[in-house]
Amino acid sequence: GRTAVVIPAAGRGVRLGPGAPKALRALNGTPMLIHAVRAMAASRAVSLVVVVAPPDGAPEVKNLLDAHALPERTDYLVVPGGDTRQESVRLGLEALPENIGTVLVHDAARPLVPVDTVDAVIAAVFDGAPAVVPALPLADTVKEVEPREKGEPEPVVATPERARLRAVQTPQGFDRGTLVRAHETVAVSGEGATDDAGMVERLGAPVVVVPGHEEAFKVTRPLDLLLAEAVLARRRA
Ligand code: C5P
Repeated sequence: GRTAVVIPAAGRGVRLGPGAPKALRALNGTPMLIHAVRAMAASRAVSLVVVVAPPDGAPEVKNLLDAHALPERTDYLVVPGGDTRQESVRLGLEALPENIGTVLVHDAARPLVPVDTVDAVIAAVFDGAPAVVPALPLADTVKEVEPREKGEPEPVVATPERARLRAVQTPQGFDRGTLVRAHETVAVSGEGATDDAGMVERLGAPVVVVPGHEEAFKVTRPLDLLLAEAVLARRRA
């Protein structure tokens, strides 16, 4: 089968501050989503990119893709998204044609992931892993706490051994059947999940990690916009 990427881009991006939906904010004059689409289409293995737009924003996103130069060997589809990331991904999966056997899910909010990372994820799925996530070791020590109201000190419950922890990124890669089953199962259970691989773990299917990349960081807060523009400036230099 061929390889497709689903890009959930339906989030509001509240943590970035007021403005357009996050995926449509500009980095060096080009919307974050366009950077993300180019990062995926840069891989020669990718034959289709499905962008999941804000529920009322599919025509606008379609126009945006048409207005930017994108590789011609790749097809592009835009579908309206849902209320949660999980639902947006499911709607993207439903739009895939028959001939797709491998699916990547990539956050529009990670516009600068290098093509080598994309290719490494795809290669691991081709080698037989049903689910693959790029990830990096942590710089910070992480504590589990007992959550309290905002501003109240939170009791520490545990300190997991840092060397065994990884911060996961996207694109996450999957055998199509495995990812579809994971979404069906989680939808029935009513549980939420913050990443797609986590849903596959609940199925009991193996998930493996490959090295991520610093430049695959998620643009979440205002400081991340500055960092992203600095990375782009360095690439141009
Ligand atoms: O909010 P967060 O940073 O986790 O969002 C990750 C990705 O999921 C973003 O690309 C965002 O646009 C997308 N998303 C979505 N549909 C939602 C919420 C988030 O496609 N309802």
